[in-house]
Amino acid sequence: MVSVKITENIYWTGVNDRTTDLFEGLWPISEEGVSYNSYVILDEKVALIDLVKSFKTDDYLSQIEEIIDPTKIDYVIVNHVEPDHTGMIKVMSRLAPNIIFVGTEKTKKMLEDYYQLEFGDKFLVVKTGARLNLGTHELEFYEVPFVHWPETMVTYERKNEILFSCDAFGSYGALRGAIFDDEYDDLEFYKEEALRYYVNIVAKFSRFVLKAIDALKTLQIRIIAPSHGLIWRKHPEKIIKLYSKWATYASEPSEKGITLIYASMYGNTEKVMNAVAQGASKEGIPIQIFDVARTHVSYILPSLWKYQGILIGTPTYETKLFPPMAYVLQMADYKRITNKKVARFGSYGWSGGAQRDLESYIEKLKWDLVDIFEFQGGPSEEDLKYGKKFGENFAKIIRSS
Ligand SMILES: Cc1cc2nc3c(=O)[nH]c(=O)nc-3n(C[C@H](O)[C@H](O)[C@H](O)COP(=O)(O)O)c2cc1C
Ligand SMILES: [Fe+2]
Ligand SMILES: [Fe+2]
Repeated sequence: MVSVKITENIYWTGVNDRTTDLFEGLWPISEEGVSYNSYVILDEKVALIDLVKSFKTDDYLSQIEEIIDPTKIDYVIVNHVEPDHTGMIKVMSRLAPNIIFVGTEKTKKMLEDYYQLEFGDKFLVVKTGARLNLGTHELEFYEVPFVHWPETMVTYERKNEILFSCDAFGSYGALRGAIFDDEYDDLEFYKEEALRYYVNIVAKFSRFVLKAIDALKTLQIRIIAPSHGLIWRKHPEKIIKLYSKWATYASEPSEKGITLIYASMYGNTEKVMNAVAQGASKEGIPIQIFDVARTHVSYILPSLWKYQGILIGTPTYETKLFPPMAYVLQMADYKRITNKKVARFGSYGWSGGAQRDLESYIEKLKWDLVDIFEFQGGPSEEDLKYGKKFGENFAKIIRSS
């Protein structure tokens, strides 16, 4: 993509990544892609806000060249050290050795560690409230530790009321030509991908997200310019509200709905799963169903985060949970998914053991296990009837909680 003007002297320059399969080496993005957004501010002093991953170097530099000779850049603002925003740092410092990098104290140390750089006097350490005058534009910096790493900050440009928020308010999803919320019709795509991104990347730090949103509430924000995904120009409040809502799910009950996660080797647990889903669907609350062996956990976590109820269907496997189910529960623990009501069903052949294994996870997760339905071998007619009732009862509990 070519660079895009945001305001008179502020430009988007970013790279769309449609070839990386796994973001952070873990989260699938091969269908959705992701963008690394960076911004140029032209003034008496020229500033670049965040860099991009070490990727498509030539394209990125050409975009900057459309606006200004990259050797004329005075400042590079480093909101966050993660290499998806700093991968280009060595290229930039070789190209323009006089650039002054700007970031928090921790940012300086971490950049030195990650890239074996020695900044000398080429690094400006800033704290919350510090300002940097570029001429007609002034940048203000706010530390937002753990949104996403300990060194992270955001940058506010007061004249145009733009918040350069880096990972905060970002989403997966490469830019589809349009870079602004008001230029793109299918906002649902970005909202969904923002939730998946939030739960995969930021959710564990929800407490810090709420703290950051609270600290920034005195700022007039006209445009949210994150470093992944759309720029929110028409309705910046939409993405702020979504992030605030999702962050509260870390400590308060989430939405009335059910995530049904299941696995089945020979279809016994699956038969009962269908009965359970039929029963649960009678109560008129949303249900999302995932086969944990076939769906990457990245796509399951958003539903677990969003809905209060979790139905777990798993057979016993070598006296334990079916392995992909154990992995999903382990990831739920990594992401601190909490405040959930759970019921479990599943088949066993002789000894059982999945239930005991599940309980050790549930204890750690502090989830509330409200019902259990185990059966031996294939389900009988009775089991299927009971499965339906089991699903209905669980949905009633969620609906009325
Ligand atoms: C690889 C494998 C390991 C199993 N390990 C156990 C076990 O340790 N204890 C047990 O009671 N059943 C065990 N079973 C039996 C299954 O739990 C049983 O066949 C169940 O009906 C499978 O349900 P499904 O058709 O939903 O996969 C095992 C089955 C397989 C294929
Ligand atoms: Fe990050
Ligand atoms: Fe990032």
